[in-house]
Amino acid sequence: MKLSFLLLSQIGYSAALSYASVFPSEGINRSTENTAASTFWFESIKRSGTTVYRNVKDLGAKGDGVTDDTAAIQNVIRMSPAAGSVIYFPTGTYLVSSGLKANSYSVFFGDPTNRPVIKASASFSGSVLLTGSVRTSSGLADFFRTVKNLVFDTTAVSPTKRLSLIVWSLSQGSQIQNVLFNMPVGSGGHIGIQSIGTNSPTFLNDLQFNGGAIGLSLSDTQYQLKSMYFNGTTTAIKVEQMLLCTGQGLRFERVTTGVDSTATGTAHFNLIDSSATNTETVFAGAAAAVNTVVLQNVQVDSTVQATVKIGGTVSLTGSVPADQTWLKGNKYAMGATSPEVVSGERIPTTRLASLVNSSGAFVTVVPPTYQDFTTAQVVNVKEHSVAGDGTRDDTAAIQAVITSAAANNQLVFFPYGTYLITDTIKVPKGSRLVGEAWSQLMASGSKFADVKNPRPMIQIGVPGDVGVAQMSDFILGIKSASPGLVLLEINMAGTEPGDVGFFNVHFPLNMGGTITKPRTCSSAANCPSNHISVHMTPSSSVYWENTWVSDAGGTQYSTSNGGGFFVESQGGTWINGVGSGQSPPPEERRYPVRESSYWRVQAMIQAANNNVEHSAMYQVNIHNAKGVFLGVHQSESAYWQVQTQASVLNPGSWSSALFAGEPNFGWCGTSDSACRVGLYQYVTGSSDIHLYSGGFWNFPCASDACQTYATVLGNNTKLFVWGQGVINSKNMVGELSGSTVSPIVTRQANIGSNFNGLVPSIVAAYLRQSS
Ligand SMILES: *[C@@H]1O[C@H](CO)[C@@H](O)[C@H](O)[C@H]1NC(C)=O
Ligand SMILES: *[C@@H]1O[C@H](CO)[C@@H](O)[C@H](O)[C@H]1NC(C)=O
Ligand SMILES: *[C@@H]1O[C@H](CO)[C@@H](O)[C@H](O)[C@H]1NC(C)=O
Ligand SMILES: *[C@@H]1O[C@H](CO)[C@@H](O)[C@H](O)[C@H]1NC(C)=O
Repeated sequence: MKLSFLLLSQIGYSAALSYASVFPSEGINRSTENTAASTFWFESIKRSGTTVYRNVKDLGAKGDGVTDDTAAIQNVIRMSPAAGSVIYFPTGTYLVSSGLKANSYSVFFGDPTNRPVIKASASFSGSVLLTGSVRTSSGLADFFRTVKNLVFDTTAVSPTKRLSLIVWSLSQGSQIQNVLFNMPVGSGGHIGIQSIGTNSPTFLNDLQFNGGAIGLSLSDTQYQLKSMYFNGTTTAIKVEQMLLCTGQGLRFERVTTGVDSTATGTAHFNLIDSSATNTETVFAGAAAAVNTVVLQNVQVDSTVQATVKIGGTVSLTGSVPADQTWLKGNKYAMGATSPEVVSGERIPTTRLASLVNSSGAFVTVVPPTYQDFTTAQVVNVKEHSVAGDGTRDDTAAIQAVITSAAANNQLVFFPYGTYLITDTIKVPKGSRLVGEAWSQLMASGSKFADVKNPRPMIQIGVPGDVGVAQMSDFILGIKSASPGLVLLEINMAGTEPGDVGFFNVHFPLNMGGTITKPRTCSSAANCPSNHISVHMTPSSSVYWENTWVSDAGGTQYSTSNGGGFFVESQGGTWINGVGSGQSPPPEERRYPVRESSYWRVQAMIQAANNNVEHSAMYQVNIHNAKGVFLGVHQSESAYWQVQTQASVLNPGSWSSALFAGEPNFGWCGTSDSACRVGLYQYVTGSSDIHLYSGGFWNFPCASDACQTYATVLGNNTKLFVWGQGVINSKNMVGELSGSTVSPIVTRQANIGSNFNGLVPSIVAAYLRQSS
């Protein structure tokens, strides 16, 4: 974000240098703790040595619904390391009389078998029950926070009191999941989740709101809101500011307004696979031409008065079926070379059968908690000769655990730590891997160094495998420049969608400490950090939720990775809430590595100074794929490419080692650095591709001159783009035909509203390759 430049300079670097305060060495001696019996493995599993797990009942909270637990819980948060901690709540009711405040990298984790309740007392003082973000407002530089499996209850508090249950002014890597918000029915003052200022998150999922004035009050650049039930909430979603949003699987019951998107500062909203009953207005939008909206598969019954109101006037009543789109906004139809602005047009739309459930909605999966596993079925890798200390080579020991666990139907638990990996780990069918907060798997060594012999760190199955392979709560990182590295290669498909699934798995390659990179780049050959972050090969079918893929930092070409997501899947792939975001400032660079041996303060400052990010060639590349759903894709250009004339132009180091289907930029002049800027999306030879809410930002160059194409799309069928927003790219879509690219959708033809002082261009529907 442009605003992050300001934040970076305001914050300064002093925080980064106080190393001792960042990584307190104290741990908890688990054997002195009173670990209550629970059926949930995460609560009862043996943890040895230093741990980031903090069970609030072990540490003074009562959870009896009578005792005031405010001080005890806040004390647990306070004594937890700022570099990452799991504040665990066993089942119970925790009475709280004033607001709780999270630390950086706090994970608030409840027992999913019977979600614990955090209950505001009748005499609650203050206006926020849990402040989840470091700052109340504008968390563009605040990352990695989780709240899951909890109930927040304010029904005992006066319904007229102004009260937010969670303030969540956060950006990428954050997630609130499987949470119930109980608020007084008819309340004028209670808000479930509120973000303030400008923030850049991607995903909220599987939430329920009972009562309350507002369920979600959002002020963010983008969001995918998945699987939410609003039950008697006056305004379910109030959009204060949002460039692009996808609401998916929302159910409105007894609400006055489902989505209120009438504020200035809201641009495009996709409402899909949703339903309403006893609701006055499902979607309320602004009349301005720059406010665009897409409805698909929105089912309402006769108790719903208006499906869409624009500028206060009813524009649509009744349902929009699953094979239709209702559109207000600018579209590029088949054969059209200029935008046509429509107001309430119905467009026939197809969805591939393998991507949808039996009611025609795109498949969604509830993230696994593995709560049915007994503690005996869970293997803690640290009990099996795996060090997780970031220095010892864990490759062989991890491989042994994973192979044995798959054969024995066991869950593999990686406690918080950094696991050094020097060769490919093969993950077979029957694998379920779970991290803690975010456990880091870190590639290192010569096996990954040869650009001509690409090699995965984590390889999911072999081509043709059909089975289960899931990972949750991991960071995949790199210790040293590895031009031949593919961090994650997926070859497997599932019997059911989600069998091959990745939940809360991130690739924050620019985080200080994740990579020890050369500060200067002596030759192109030793420069790239890695080739691809994620490669989904043709035989794969994969389900993703909440992922942050971000490039290594530096003004140097040294720190670039070639590609983010490379999707060749034929079997149906769902990518929900993917972001590639800004470089965290020093104070936020504490998380990934706590071991001092390779925490390089200098490298960290260098990276923060340069504030560089993003993959060199492409962020998302979909090639010869069939059936891809992408819910939200937030992205920024690599700063080193657009800030100054880059010294190495795409495809750079990978020119001799491109995978078939990676862009060779042959359509650009040899020295045309603007044309050779990495693409946000490159989609070729594919069919049944559904791309929602693409937010593409080029900040360092405040004009269209230094990036020619945002996306290049060519030779596709049934490609549907619903909502693409671009800042500072000359062309929004270039179309590839043979080896030439034609600028079809220009930014200037689609100039949009003012957004935070920036002028984004929005295309509501790109349908030129939709037949
Ligand atoms: C942990 O506490 C137990 C019981 O008090 C004690 O025997 C053991 O030495 C302690 N371990 C460490 C590493 O302090
Ligand atoms: C809807 O909300 C009401 C009032 O808060 C509550 O009693 C009811 O159980 C909720 N319904 C469901 C299905 O959760
Ligand atoms: C299909 O998905 C939608 C939206 O997520 C959900 O509301 C619906 O219940 C699902 N239908 C079936 C049959 O699972
Ligand atoms: C178009 O894509 C198909 C695969 O869907 C491929 O077989 C064909 O060669 C491509 N054509 C061109 C001109 O790239």
